[in-house]
Order: sequence, then structure tokens, then C-alpha cells
Amino acid sequence: MIIANWKANGDIESNKIWCNQLISRMSDKGFKSIGIAPSYIHFNQIKNMLKNNGIEIGFQDIDIEGGARTGSISPSMAADSECSFCLIGHSERREIFNDDNDTISKKYKMLAKHHIKPVLCIGESFEDFQAGKTEKKLQTQIEECIQGNILSENLIIAYEPVWAIGTGNTPKPKDVNTIHEFIKDVVQSATENNIVPQVLYGGSVNKNNAADFFVQQNIDGALIGGASLNADIFSDIIDIYRRLRER
Ligand code: PGA
Repeated sequence: MIIANWKANGDIESNKIWCNQLISRMSDKGFKSIGIAPSYIHFNQIKNMLKNNGIEIGFQDIDIEGGARTGSISPSMAADSECSFCLIGHSERREIFNDDNDTISKKYKMLAKHHIKPVLCIGESFEDFQAGKTEKKLQTQIEECIQGNILSENLIIAYEPVWAIGTGNTPKPKDVNTIHEFIKDVVQSATENNIVPQVLYGGSVNKNNAADFFVQQNIDGALIGGASLNADIFSDIIDIYRRLRER
């Protein structure tokens, strides 16, 4: 799956142009395996423009519950909006909004309860990477975020090294492949029902490096920030993904 993470970007006019460009690029090839996570405020606009094509429209985050929580969007609101997937644990939420693994685990539980596909984001800091602690860090994040939860078949993990997000720096695709294999093993051993999740890579994916990632056996797609803001570039990346992964 290829997911666009628009973060706090977009406006009504430019979203319209983006959707029309995507439709003109994809309408004869189909919209399978494409997800878009716009801002909450633009969710319905994007849903109305694209949902009939089968594109999955999701949220970038969710709160753990509803009620007296000013400024929040509750899990039942997400379900009510027909949100198809939801990112949780993105490093910007962890860093700027102090989401810890315990909170992310609660969010996971609520998504499962409301039958919304969870896209659990994990990733190590540059210090952890340099100290050779990547696998240890990822294992802790996975175990603490899914602890005590029954894993759904549709769980997606997005591996996003914090130091690769929005920087233009990426780990070597071969190393990412090894890490994805490790992530699949950790998730599988943490679940009673032996779930092997799809694992997406995220962090400075663009149309020039996408092929190097998608040829790797365990890289099942991408979570794309900056390069997803341009519909033509995003479509180019989808084309590359399909050529290499959907044979
Ligand atoms: P980037 O962002 O593609 O701009 O590095 C990825 C993300 O934050 O999900």
C-alpha cells in the first residue's frame, strides 16, 4: 500500500487540483492500494472527490476517547466518518504531542474496536541508530504499543527512522529490508494468531529512490510525506510500486 501523509498541509483549492490530477493519472489503471491521510478538516472533501474510486481515506491520528477533551477527534467520530485507516504513533505525534507507547496502545485498542485499519508508526532516533540500538528500540515500541491487544489481520506497520523524515537522508534499502524482516518476526511472535503485518517504509521516499525500496522483498509499500503533496510525483511513485510489487 502507498499512503500519502499530508500532515498539516492542503487547502480547499489546491486539494481540488490534486484530486483531479490523481484521477487523470490513475483512472484507467485503478486506485487499488492507495491511501490518503489529509487533515481532519479536509477529510470529507477528499472523501467526496475520491472515495467512489476505491481509494482509502484515513486519519493522521485519533484521540483515545471522546467527551470532555477539547480539540480532540474521538474514535467513534472516525468510525462515523467512514475513515478507512488511521496512523498512530507518528514520530511527530510522539515528539510534539508527547504520545508515548502506552497512549498509542490505547489508540490501537480503540481502532480495533471500531474496525478501523491501524497504521502503527515506529522508528528510531539518530542517536539510537548511531548507537546500534535500532532493533531494540523498534522491538520495545512494537511490544508496548500492541501489548494486551488482539491484533487485527489488517494491521500495517510503518517503519520510519526519525532521522529520515523530511531530511532527504535515508537508510540503505537493503538495511531497511532486514529491519522489516525483523519487525515481521517481532509482531508474529507477539501475537497468538501469528499475524505477519504489511510493513511500509517511510522517510524521504521520492520518485528517484522509490524503486530501490520496492525491489526489496520485505518492503510492502511506503508512507510518504513531502513527495505526496504533488499529485504527479505521488502518481509516479504509485506507478513504480505497481510495476515492481503488483506483478
Ligand atoms: P517524508 O515524511 O516523506 O516527508 O520524509 C514521511 C512521514 O512523515 O510520514
